[in-house]
Amino acid sequence: MIVGIDLGTTNSLVAFINGEGKPEIVINERGSRLTPSVVYFKNDQEVLVGELARSQMVLKADRTVSCIKRHMGSDYQVFISQRGYTPVEISALILRKLVQYAREYLGQEIEAAVITVPAYFNDNQRQATFLAGELAGLKVLKLLNEPTAAALAYGIRSEKKENILVLDIGGGTFDITLMEGEKGIYRVIGTGGSTTLGGTDFDNRLAQYILTTFYEMTGVDLTADKVALQQVQVNAERVKVDLSTVNESSVLIPYITMGEAGPLHLNQVVSRAAFHKICTDLFVEIRSLILQTLAKAGVEERWVDVVVLAGGASRMPGFRDMVSEMFGHAEIKTDINPDEVVALGAAIEAGMLAGAVEHIEFYDVTSHTLGIEDNLGEFVPLIPANTSYPVVQSKLFTTVEDDQEEVIIHILQKDDLNTAGSEGLVSLGRFHLEGIHKAKAGEPNIDVTFAIDKNGILNVSALDLDTGTTNQVQITGAVYSGNKESLNRRGRGLTVL
Ligand SMILES: Nc1ncnc2c1ncn2[C@@H]1O[C@H](COP(=O)(O)OP(=O)(O)OP(=O)(O)O)[C@@H](O)[C@H]1O
Ligand SMILES: [Mg+2]
Repeated sequence: MIVGIDLGTTNSLVAFINGEGKPEIVINERGSRLTPSVVYFKNDQEVLVGELARSQMVLKADRTVSCIKRHMGSDYQVFISQRGYTPVEISALILRKLVQYAREYLGQEIEAAVITVPAYFNDNQRQATFLAGELAGLKVLKLLNEPTAAALAYGIRSEKKENILVLDIGGGTFDITLMEGEKGIYRVIGTGGSTTLGGTDFDNRLAQYILTTFYEMTGVDLTADKVALQQVQVNAERVKVDLSTVNESSVLIPYITMGEAGPLHLNQVVSRAAFHKICTDLFVEIRSLILQTLAKAGVEERWVDVVVLAGGASRMPGFRDMVSEMFGHAEIKTDINPDEVVALGAAIEAGMLAGAVEHIEFYDVTSHTLGIEDNLGEFVPLIPANTSYPVVQSKLFTTVEDDQEEVIIHILQKDDLNTAGSEGLVSLGRFHLEGIHKAKAGEPNIDVTFAIDKNGILNVSALDLDTGTTNQVQITGAVYSGNKESLNRRGRGLTVL
């Protein structure tokens, strides 16, 4: 059995294609469809995952790990009893648990999976997700973009031609995807968003608000009290969720700390209006990210026909009101549970790979600019970000020295949004082209071709047009994964003709 997994910052889900050919969410041992992405190291032998771990977040803050997805692909480590754990290891623990739930629920071995990732996960982040899957004993058949999965879940139902905007706001990320769809054929025409904006930011705002109010009322600062902070954080999230359905919610934490005159209790009321006020800038940011994505794709707001909402935080009335106001003319899709829509889409993709559901023709888009490095170490783009594939692009290069017989083609991915480190450049691989015909510098014609096939596999080839000498390299997943070669070796002896 191949399953679809939504490995979320806050919650994870696993889904499969059932006997009727429909995607279905696996129910875990606690009867829940969502498993919190939290790991609790009970002792050196025992590790708990999910709700049981989440309930330890307050009392065993130093032995629980949450929101690890935010650190995927970085060299961050969490230390538990002096032992360091990588984000890959923590994520593998979560995946292993999800697979166990699926195995128990289905009574079948789970051999492989489709795992979803935010559209803007860069190469390292995708690679880390892939490794986490393998570490959990899974064959990872595909890393699927979360908004693409959400559109797939709705896609099997849509028949008429539409411009579809997918807004997925989860715990830690906000993914925006703009697609053109008709009868199961979808073309992604733009992606955008942020890997550091989600429901957790709203929780943090509320937690800060609660702490400040407590300080104003009692003069006691709780920010150094780890246990109190966790309690406030957990309550802040609950208040946020409450405020999606009611206008007012309250926090009551008895005996939160000791004051000069004895124990102090935290007792506050938070209104939806107050919540919106402290989060105004977050809503403004969300709006501008949406507008940026549309502008980059050259699409006006009024050309959007359908808006698909995904991610638990899309339930916030502030979010929904903003979306209705911006896209009042469009059909706003909310009928599939926003918590589940990504996992259901992943299950559909898994089903297509397994042949359990009919294959849907589907076009995706590159998230990064792909190109090579020239002799001066400059990035030369060949395929811009947001290019739909299959696609083939060529550019002519030449030598920089007389009688030069060899060049090194260094393939790079430029991360336009996550600009951390090395100007956002990630090395995908390199190869030599030897046997170039001897000539003066600048005379040889070296054609470099980038071709991405329908599976997102990049093939880079170089050809000396005068001798017919050629060499090439295949990079599996240039769209989403490459290796982490160091960037300090140059593409040698090569310049744009
Ligand atoms: N009714 C609700 N109102 C407001 N927020 C909600 C509601 N239900 C869930 N959330 C929030 O949604 C977020 C979790 O959403 P989801 O499960 O889609 O995230 P995720 O997939 O784990 O995260 P990401 O997609 O960023 O990796 C949490 O911040 C949670 O508090
Ligand atoms: Mg999600």
